[in-house]
Amino acid sequence: MNTISKTKIQIEKIKESKLPLVNFKNLQFGKIFSDHMFMADYKNGEWQNLKILPFAPIELSPSCAALHYGQAIFEGMKAYKNNKNEIMLFRPFANAKRINSSAKRLCMPEIPEELFIDAIKQLVKIDADWVPALEGYSLYIRPFLFASEELLGVRPSEEYKFMIITCPVGAYYNEEVHVKIETEFSRASEGGVGFAKAAGNYATALYPAKLGQDQGYKQLVWTDAKEHKYIEESGTMNVMFQIGDTLVTPSTELKTILAGITRDSVLTLARELGIKVEERRVSVEEVIAAARNGQLKDAFGTGTAATLAQISSITFNNERFTLPAIETRKLSNEIGKLIQDIKRGRVADTHDWVYQF
Ligand code: COI
Repeated sequence: MNTISKTKIQIEKIKESKLPLVNFKNLQFGKIFSDHMFMADYKNGEWQNLKILPFAPIELSPSCAALHYGQAIFEGMKAYKNNKNEIMLFRPFANAKRINSSAKRLCMPEIPEELFIDAIKQLVKIDADWVPALEGYSLYIRPFLFASEELLGVRPSEEYKFMIITCPVGAYYNEEVHVKIETEFSRASEGGVGFAKAAGNYATALYPAKLGQDQGYKQLVWTDAKEHKYIEESGTMNVMFQIGDTLVTPSTELKTILAGITRDSVLTLARELGIKVEERRVSVEEVIAAARNGQLKDAFGTGTAATLAQISSITFNNERFTLPAIETRKLSNEIGKLIQDIKRGRVADTHDWVYQF
């Protein structure tokens, strides 16, 4: 575990908030940033230079290692306000663990949990007015870590920057999600970094996703890199199917998919609601067979940005299967509502998921 040389975060506040300029009715995801950001340096084996400062461009050397060899990882989480105007985070300790599992795989230094949580807490407190209280809105928090050593040699960088930026967001999808099962390109392979929130995983996905979008699909459903027979994820989300009465989702065992925190929360709640859950390999064949014989009752993606995004249709080999109307989907509507109610403090948090301050 890495040490922190100075735990105290130095704070420099913005002179004039940009908040009055924001049109909350027209928020594009990740385009408007709140007033402040957090920044820390990793140097000589220690976290140091911890500061919160006005959101602004940063200076980097053109030889900064992350720009060349992609040692860059991130997390995503959201802050909400309850009806007493208190700020609530959802499972931030799970994000702290996951960024360190990504860091380990990418040969990067771990971020002490105390530093991760405290930095988020202080940053969000300073920008508390940016946390929307409106239903359907939240403050998206983006912690990220990248190699900052000036280095073109291929080896793990010895210097890093850990930063956090935040942005107010509304719904991630505001139109129907039509997906296509991808059988040519793949997102991740066994032994690779598919389980990590590595920037490169998202870069890999852009070209196939663009081809799909050009054909009218909002997202791709990724399949395994070896045979394209098994389902992995959908777009940037984990994916789940209700086949008959069973909720089926790809297991994280092969480490090719992200161990989503929303994924885990949905599965936990489903089990508690008495729904049969199966985490296992899910073949394209069985999903298509279920769609054909009317047993595919529901399909949705789960992730921090969208929480739960219901899929309207699935296309495989140019054949489109339309799923039941979204308003009739008992399982995803019930769990989607429950998770929002927990995040916003409207129902008891029996799992200790909510971190309030
Ligand atoms: C998430 O939903 O968890 C994501 O990581 C999506 C993000 C890349 C916008």
